[in-house]
Order: sequence, then structure tokens, then C-alpha cells
Amino acid sequence: MTTSRIAGFYNLPLGERLDKLVEAAGLTSDELAAFQTLNGLADEQADHMIENAVGTFGLPLGIGLNFVVNGRDVLVPMAIEEPSVVAGASFMAKLVRTGGGFTVITSAPEMIGQMQVMEVQDLMAASMELHEHKTELLAEADVADPLLKKFGGGARDLEVRIIEDSPIGPFLVVHLIYDVRDAMGANAVNTACEKLAPHIEKITGGRVHLRILSNLADRRLVKASCTVPLKELAFTNTDGRTFTGEQVRDGIIEAWAFAEADPYRAATHNKGIMNGVDAVVIATGNDWRAIEAGAHAYAARFGRYTSLSTWGKDEGGNLTGELEMPMAVGIVGGATKVHPAARAALKLMGVKTASDLAGTIASVGLAQNLAALRALATEGIQRGHMSLHARQVAIAAGATSDQIEKVAAKMVAEKTVRIDRAEEILKALGKS
Ligand code: MEV
Repeated sequence: MTTSRIAGFYNLPLGERLDKLVEAAGLTSDELAAFQTLNGLADEQADHMIENAVGTFGLPLGIGLNFVVNGRDVLVPMAIEEPSVVAGASFMAKLVRTGGGFTVITSAPEMIGQMQVMEVQDLMAASMELHEHKTELLAEADVADPLLKKFGGGARDLEVRIIEDSPIGPFLVVHLIYDVRDAMGANAVNTACEKLAPHIEKITGGRVHLRILSNLADRRLVKASCTVPLKELAFTNTDGRTFTGEQVRDGIIEAWAFAEADPYRAATHNKGIMNGVDAVVIATGNDWRAIEAGAHAYAARFGRYTSLSTWGKDEGGNLTGELEMPMAVGIVGGATKVHPAARAALKLMGVKTASDLAGTIASVGLAQNLAALRALATEGIQRGHMSLHARQVAIAAGATSDQIEKVAAKMVAEKTVRIDRAEEILKALGKS
């Protein structure tokens, strides 16, 4: 990868954008061909992936530009239907770049497998017994996935929890902590839990009911942080309205404080983060429902749902941001390997480990959060959304090729973006 800064990318026709990617990323056009519908996921492959397949479902794939993550330029594939997300993330990554880019750290790729143990006579005594047999239980779980073991993964720890109060009364929960290296890990963890269950029943005298991983992957965390120099925040919008760096910075901090304090706002704030996160998770063939579940459960970990990110300022008055969340993504196995576009996406990003991928995803989430807060704290979200939204409305009204731009531009100029108006403009165009 030479650089993730590609000037004028936005204005190029789609095919030329691909040429630019080939130049910038050092990949061949064959390697990126999977991004084209015809070379993407074939019906036959889809048929092997899920049941009752009747075809495939397309989403636009855009490239997040300007990202620097731990000093490395990264071009970020993003699959998303919502306008403004790719542009917003790319623009914010450009600002963050002037402050040195994103810094990320990740914990070990440890997932949690849960076993629900029922019908235990003495929960405390059973819990102690399990602790005493911990070494042999871990040894047994450790060999459940020989491939993971070969790559340095395997069972790491066993935790026992007593659920005192539930609709069916108290029971025991055993957590198996499993290092899944570069896999997402669901299969490995579920297999290990199923393997361990009979032994746990023997030790506790109980019955193991559920054996399944937890999506609250709070031992597999990623933290992305960034600094935006104060002067980069100042801007003048197209109406000639000027915002100083201090105004923008303080407006962003106030907006974050709202999400920090109020679950109603936090849900929307975190949705903005997930706009960026999910787009990369989907483009790389990962399980976005798992990431969503983990993110929101983590956001509620203190007993009250709150913001996943934090915004503040450093001694120099620059804006600082941080995003910490679970990130159970893999680069081996599942759709990441089967889906041709996911393979091309991983190659384009040049990620070598699941933790590299997690770091880039969190950086995009933070960038996307910044884009939303900056817009909300200054001119409002609708202005930036307007022209892309207008194009979608124009298409929905039946506009094709150059009619799309004409209809959209007229609606934006009139500040009326509605399907009935788009239809009227389209009708008038037809007559002219
Ligand atoms: C829209 O998809 C996302 C936002 O609502 C996020 C936010 O409010 O922070 C703009």
C-alpha cells in the first residue's frame, strides 16, 4: 500500500476508481475483480452458504479513504446502503491524519463460551470442585480444536459464576475462556463447550443445559484513539457560515456528553459508530449481528446504557476521541474465506491478523462517530445528507442516468426532497 489518500477519487467514474485502487494498493485488477457483481458471490456459492438460497443480495461497496492506523495507510472497503457514511468517515480520517492518524490497541483474541449447569445440589461446593479440576478441564478443552492449538490458540481459563436469581431459580454458569487467534471463534468455542459438558456434569453432579459462546466478548476488546488538531476543526460552510475550531470541538464534546448521560441519545450515538463498524464487518464477510450484540451489551455494562466513545480535549486544546468495544472478527474461516469480495476486501486492507482488522474497524467507527457529531454540533445532519438522499429519492421516483443528477439538484435547490416532487420534476424533464 502506498497511500490511502487518493485525491479526486470521489469525482472519478466507478471503473477509474478501481484503476486508482490498483495503483494505490499494489493489487492487480484481477484481485479486485470480485468487487464487480459478475465476479462476486455466485449463485452456486450462495447455495452452499445458506439454506433455501434463491440468489444474492447486493449492497454498494465504497472505499473509506485517508485512514492511517498505527502508522499504516489503509484503504477501507465499506458495504453500506446509507449515503454519507463513506464520505463522512473518509473526511474525518483526513482530519485525524493531520494529528498522526488512529492509534489502536487490542486485547488477546479471547472469547467466552458459556455452560449453564442445572440441578446442582450445592452451588458453592460444585463451584469449588470445578476450580479444583480446572487444570484437567482446560487440558481437555485445549485440544478441542487442533488447528487453533497449532497457531497458538486454545483454552486459557475457566470461571464459575452463580446466578442467584432467575425465573427458574439459582443455577451455575461456567465460562470457558478460549483464545481463538485469527478466527471469529464461534465454532471453536461451541465445540469446546460441547466437548467439556459431560466432564462438567460429572464434577458437579448437575445437568449441562446450554453450551454456547457469549456475544458479550468483553475479553476481546479493541481501543481506537485519535487527536484532531484544533485548527483542522474550523470550517466555513457553503452558506458562508463560519465555525471556529473551539466551537466545533466544544460542540462535539457537548454532543458526546448528551450520549454519555442519556440512553435515548446513546442509542443513536452508538448507531452512528456502528454505521462505520458494520460497513467494514460486512465487507469482510464477518458476522455483524455478533458485533452489534457485543457492542450494545458492552455499552450497558455498568447497568445503564451509555456511549461507546469518549470525546475531550488535550492540554493543547486539540480534540481527542476514544472508542472501546468488543470486536469478535476473524480473517480465517466462514464467509471471510468463502465470499470472493470478502477475500478481496481483506487483501485490499492488507490486514495480517484478526487484531489488525479489529483495529481498523474501530478506527472507522470512531471516524464515523466524529463525522456525525461534527455535523450535528454545527450545521445539522440534513444538509450533508441532502444531496445523496435526493439522488436516492430521484431513483425511487424513476429517474435514470443523467436525470438522477438533474432531479436531485433541483430538489436540493428547492430544499424539498420528496418523492412526489421528484416525480413532478421528472415529468417536466420528460416534456422539455
Ligand atoms: C444516522 O445513520 C446516524 C446518526 O444519527 C448518528 C448520530 O446521531 O450520532 C447521525
